[in-house]
Amino acid sequence: MSKDFDYAHANKNVVWMSQNTNHLPTHSAIQKAIRKAADEREYTKYPLASGLPQLKNLILEDLGLPDHDLHITNGGTEALYCLMRHIQPRGSEMITSDPSYFVVHKFAKLGGAKCTDIPIYHGNYRFDVEDIKEAITPDSKSIFLIDPINPLGSTYPKDEKRAICEVAEDHDLWVIDDITYRDFAPEHTLAANLLPEKTITAYSVSKNCGLAGLRVGSLVGPKEFIRDIRGTMVSDLGISVVGQRAAVAALETKPDWLPGLVDTAVKNQGLIKNAVDKVDGAELPVYPSAASMMVIDIAEHNANPQDIQDKLLYENDIFVRGGNYVSTKFGDNFIRVSFSIPTQEVERFVEAFPKVMEELS
Ligand SMILES: Cc1ncc(COP(=O)(O)O)c(C=O)c1O
Repeated sequence: MSKDFDYAHANKNVVWMSQNTNHLPTHSAIQKAIRKAADEREYTKYPLASGLPQLKNLILEDLGLPDHDLHITNGGTEALYCLMRHIQPRGSEMITSDPSYFVVHKFAKLGGAKCTDIPIYHGNYRFDVEDIKEAITPDSKSIFLIDPINPLGSTYPKDEKRAICEVAEDHDLWVIDDITYRDFAPEHTLAANLLPEKTITAYSVSKNCGLAGLRVGSLVGPKEFIRDIRGTMVSDLGISVVGQRAAVAALETKPDWLPGLVDTAVKNQGLIKNAVDKVDGAELPVYPSAASMMVIDIAEHNANPQDIQDKLLYENDIFVRGGNYVSTKFGDNFIRVSFSIPTQEVERFVEAFPKVMEELS
């Protein structure tokens, strides 16, 4: 895999559909803010440890959670890593799914916690509340909800999210609501609005604001919880002030750029669907996706995901991801593609995918 990333980073022509990153235009205010922070050499000081007050306010406003508090982190990744250290001690369990964003499972396991990895690659392609109930043990500490889910793009209707929050409340579990892809969803319910005292929200500006390379995110939760966890965060001296300035500019201008971005993502999904429909043995389990990525199931085709990934990357300069990165049980059944990229780049995929699948059949 690192060979693939070496190749993709070294080749400017590569169409990046492998990490759900957002390459679409947002707002010139972001670049302006980055230049200003650089011109003023704001980077010579450590920033405030918990984050720029302006950014903190914008995030709470964005979420509509004025009564919660937060800590600004190096992407949602640091938020989730520190959270695992804090709430999932050795021997504890976390309710998780397969497929999922396994990086967080790895963080839990590093500290000796266990993950349930409930299979969700069927039905509605999201947690069924009955399966969650069954998986709970006296050692369970949290439910790791990704909504919308990476890699599937499914999201939870309000009644299902409420039912999950009720189970969490009954068993005194934390709900970890990872909402990295929320802004791509036509409708979305925050667990924090349903169970404010036991929800921790993992927040990121990587995918919605197109700032993945600046590494800005946040851990949002009840005030007492954030007070307790603050002293244990890795970003004890704050995170990049340049990244924070960019995030402020992005969130301040969000109403100007988000609708156009979502429209393009929706249109791109449609183009991908047309290409998939042309291939016997390929289908979209979740369509439309509520995120910036989706899964193409190829279980009925005799190609394997790694060969598809390799052929697309090394012969067509299109970088997609085989399913094994996000699923142990079902990884051989699918590839994951992201589409928050310019439409001309999606068109390159649309042309290459049927051809590659034909070559591999
Ligand atoms: C579900 C989910 N959570 C968190 C992250 C981490 O995002 P970042 O650290 O860039 O904020 C990702 C990145 O792909 C993700 O898919």
